[in-house]
Amino acid sequence: MPTPNDASMDAIGQRRDAFIERMLQSTRGTFEVFSIYIGVRLGFYEALAAGGSLTSRALASRTATAERYAREWLEQQTVAGIIEVDDEKADARKRRFSLPAAYVEVLVDQDSLNYLAPLARLVAGAVRPLASVLEAYRTGGGVPYAEYGADLREGQAGISRAMFLKQLGSEWLPAMPDVHARLMADPPARVADLGCGAGWSTIGVAQSYPKVLVDGYDLDEPSVTLARSNAKAAGLTDRVKFHVRDAGSPELTGRYDLVTAFECVHDMSQPVSALKAMRHLAGDRGAVLVMDERVGEAFSAAGNDVEWMMYGWSILHCLPVGKADPPSAETGAVLRPETLRRYADEAGFRRMEILTIDNLFFRFYRLHALER
Ligand SMILES: C[S@@+](CC[C@H](N)C(=O)[O-])C[C@H]1O[C@@H](n2cnc3c(N)ncnc32)[C@H](O)[C@@H]1O
Repeated sequence: MPTPNDASMDAIGQRRDAFIERMLQSTRGTFEVFSIYIGVRLGFYEALAAGGSLTSRALASRTATAERYAREWLEQQTVAGIIEVDDEKADARKRRFSLPAAYVEVLVDQDSLNYLAPLARLVAGAVRPLASVLEAYRTGGGVPYAEYGADLREGQAGISRAMFLKQLGSEWLPAMPDVHARLMADPPARVADLGCGAGWSTIGVAQSYPKVLVDGYDLDEPSVTLARSNAKAAGLTDRVKFHVRDAGSPELTGRYDLVTAFECVHDMSQPVSALKAMRHLAGDRGAVLVMDERVGEAFSAAGNDVEWMMYGWSILHCLPVGKADPPSAETGAVLRPETLRRYADEAGFRRMEILTIDNLFFRFYRLHALER
């Protein structure tokens, strides 16, 4: 018969073993994400999707990479269960590998809402300045957005592109019927998109509403350069303009029918200044829309469905970038509705409405300058 002491030692041992298993699985997942990063950056998945089944030599030659590396990656992807091999017993250089059709949409098709390849770039970007992040934890300082580099910037652009081009004009803005009607009407409406990053939301508004004139604003110069080239490729340079500007800058002037901030208020050092600017740009008659993370209403030990991810971005990226330009509100990615309500109050809004838009990751807030 085990004594109570033995029983509690057993329970601790089981919990320890479960945690060991969990850490091993997490390590496996981490390696998988970085292996996907390699596949995305080197065009391996695209080549496999286009080429059917390929040997390591064929993959290397189509992607201008070295055969030995391509072979190691193909074998790793097979063992990870991402890529399939036709004959595992064949000579290593003769084996042919293929990407299952079901994975092509997720890894290659940038127009799909299921395109998740940019997540790997986001993760790689989020860990790029790890040494600076550690230093920031010690000093209480921040880490500038620029230190996170192209992977973070382009990963963010890639992960949000399809939803902005597909859902913004067909679901999200029509959830505000008065705004939707104004964007369709004459004289052409004006829209300001703050923290626009690579500009896909700005472009999405212009594509969905063929009359509107849209200004995108972002503090990060390389993002604005990317946004301009995206607008040019979309043939929208006559109606879509981008500007390097702080969202809270008093230099932001003009009168807009709609002012938006997509997934960026929580990254801002001074979110109240940005919300004040939004209120000012929209006046009493324009609309203000903030999209941010759909985290829980309050902290709970279990977290909600997306907090495991939002806290992940927050500890590595969102809190450090938000602290880069003091004095900082120190928000982090876990921007709860009550926090935004407080910021909106401080910025002079009278009412915060949560729109009924079904989305796992995002919550949509309409901020009203007047009570009614
Ligand atoms: C997570 S990204 C979101 C980009 C884009 N809205 C999207 O959803 O893909 C946050 C963006 O906010 C921008 N940002 C942060 N603070 C800003 C500020 N004070 N003024 C303007 N842009 C800012 C960053 O440069 C970055 O492009």
